[in-house]
Amino acid sequence: MTSPNKSWQARISEATDAIAQRFVESISYDRRMYKQDIAGSIAHANMLAHVGLINQAERSAIEKGLREIEREIESGQFVFDESLEDIHMVIEAALTQRIGEPGRKLHTGRSRNDQVATDLMLWICDSAKEIISQIDHLLKAYVSLARRSSEIVMPSYTHLQRAQPIIAGAEALAWAQMFSGDQDRLAHIARGAFNDQPELPLGSGAIAGSSLPIDPQQTAAAFGLFAPASSIERTASRDQAVDFVFALAMVAQHLSRWAEQWIIYMSSEFGFIRIADRYTTGSSMMPQKRNPDMLELMRGRCGNVYGDLFGLMTILKGLPIGYNRDLQEDKRLVFRAYDTVSQCLTMAAAIVDCAHFDQQRIEPTLERGFLDATSLAEYLVTQGVAFRTAHHIVGTLVARCEKEGKVGLDQLDLDAINEVMAGHETKVRITQEVYTCLGAANVARRYRSAGAGGGEPFLQQLQTWEKRLGL
Ligand code: ARG
Repeated sequence: MTSPNKSWQARISEATDAIAQRFVESISYDRRMYKQDIAGSIAHANMLAHVGLINQAERSAIEKGLREIEREIESGQFVFDESLEDIHMVIEAALTQRIGEPGRKLHTGRSRNDQVATDLMLWICDSAKEIISQIDHLLKAYVSLARRSSEIVMPSYTHLQRAQPIIAGAEALAWAQMFSGDQDRLAHIARGAFNDQPELPLGSGAIAGSSLPIDPQQTAAAFGLFAPASSIERTASRDQAVDFVFALAMVAQHLSRWAEQWIIYMSSEFGFIRIADRYTTGSSMMPQKRNPDMLELMRGRCGNVYGDLFGLMTILKGLPIGYNRDLQEDKRLVFRAYDTVSQCLTMAAAIVDCAHFDQQRIEPTLERGFLDATSLAEYLVTQGVAFRTAHHIVGTLVARCEKEGKVGLDQLDLDAINEVMAGHETKVRITQEVYTCLGAANVARRYRSAGAGGGEPFLQQLQTWEKRLGL
């Protein structure tokens, strides 16, 4: 179908070709900005009335008509005409059809170029808030997991090699901390931009602004924003969209890292974490399988979001200033990245909500890997040994244990430890007290530094989180 009735038909002699029509349209996906488009139009009409470019009767006819259209869209009754290309023209045409002449005045002093930049900006602000609240659900799930796991001691890993004992809950809080950083990043974007005076593009017109006495500051104030500093820049920039997709890519990256962690923990080799069966899948061939497919998909979908980010960056690269139609493609990527991350967050919160660390599987493994070696070195420091010497002494003790087939430092007797101490040019000799800093469970209780993975600092973190989330 072709349309002979477009607003530019006076200049373009032919109706748009049917193939071109389908090629150029964006209504199939930009319709999801209808709310922002209508809000922008109402603010614009208010401003036009304020500066006297339309009268009050026209202004209220416009607002009433737009609200009706909004309700119709929400009820699913509204028919989106593809020949009108995009959400801006579809809504304007529907308005004019309803209210006649005042509808034909709405586009005074504006262009689809500042309109689309405005709609996308407002959509991103709303959607960033949406993601922030979804992350809140995930944070709550991590924090209650941390509470359930506040007595479970487990190994921590660096280089995926056994490092130091921690409280399992502290690891859950580490993930919470990471996602909370994402919320901060998104909060910035939800305020409108990367600078202190986020500017609404509306009022920029097609590129050069307008010779009419419009007041972009008033329009912007309706959203708590500022007038364009440069109409040329405002219609060309998609920096906020890039920031948003980057922030989404960071959420996706964090989800992917966490998913990988739990996939490892779910293996028979580890068995550290149990997730509910309803979030796993079986195998069509191997009857025994219980696979972490949801976690794997989360890990994989991060790749899609990275793709969206690079897609957007690539669209922008090489665009001359001013609006170019390439910019229409931005929305596909922004929407897709948002949908992917939003779905992953819902899935993640559901999985964490009913997961638990498997104490029975974790506990017997605590004896392996000399998890208390650093704690012993730190104990020697409290007895007056320089840390480098202490490190050396404990290294020697570990080697000795391995040679003698001992799995833990607590299997060494005092004499053996003091003998190695003597060999390291230190006069310090230690007593039975040393055994209070050996063994994973003892160590996990002894941490004192702010933010540490056990002891009082862990309980403090837990408390801070519970207070923050009202748990
Ligand atoms: N649908 C277009 C977009 O999404 C709106 C702006 C079109 N402007 C233009 N002058 N062709 O970017």
